[in-house]
Amino acid sequence: MRVYKAVDYNDLSRKAANIISAQIIMKPDAVLGMATGSSPIGTYKQLVEWYKKGDLDFSEIKTINLDEYMGIGPENEQSYHFYMRTNLFDHVNIKPENTFIPDGLEEDGEKECARYDEVINSCGGIDLQLLGIGGNGHIGFNEPGTSFGKTTHQVALSESTIEANSRFFSSIDEVPKYAYSMGIKNIMQAKNILLIASGINKAEALQKAFFGPITPAVPASILQLHNNVTIVADEDALSAAKW
Ligand code: F6R
Repeated sequence: MRVYKAVDYNDLSRKAANIISAQIIMKPDAVLGMATGSSPIGTYKQLVEWYKKGDLDFSEIKTINLDEYMGIGPENEQSYHFYMRTNLFDHVNIKPENTFIPDGLEEDGEKECARYDEVINSCGGIDLQLLGIGGNGHIGFNEPGTSFGKTTHQVALSESTIEANSRFFSSIDEVPKYAYSMGIKNIMQAKNILLIASGINKAEALQKAFFGPITPAVPASILQLHNNVTIVADEDALSAAKW
């Protein structure tokens, strides 16, 4: 595990974008695992800037997102489809057919989860998986208690996640209660993991994940067993442990 301390969110975003850029430069047809939420917004912004300067080429890159809400379509502003288009895809030369996100409108969960696992396999696996971490230690939408052996699955979001995500919706009642998420097994099969975290509300989750027991109660704790984890976090997020 490598830990890079960032002085602030801007620095965190630049450092994370540098690591992703290095992957793109070393392997122009790399498969990138993508995350949504607040944490990666600055990272995507930085990647777009470097693309516009002519320093990055996404033409052969494939992306596979971690998760998507169920019951809302790609045009819904709260969907992760919409997030990815507005924060990254619309601003770089990635081919739309090379971007993959679970289909939140597919009601047949078994079918959609099998399809998504097949997408990951047919891309040859993920070279670099970007992750945020929930205050409860979740990664993707793998909530506490989720078995480490799961591949893509349907998830009932926990109360704390619904509450945390309600900041993006006009009321908590609008937050979808279910989602599709890659499983821990899919995440662990990625060749490299880049976890980003900022703010004091991530400190306890990071401490438990990397210094506590490896347990489904803290989904991110499984990352202790991954050979290639890089953490980029600010001082507040790192403040609950001696790194
Ligand atoms: C998003 C995802 C989630 C977030 C996590 C942290 O695709 O899978 O696990 O990474 O909830 O979210 P933020 O960055 O908003 O604090």
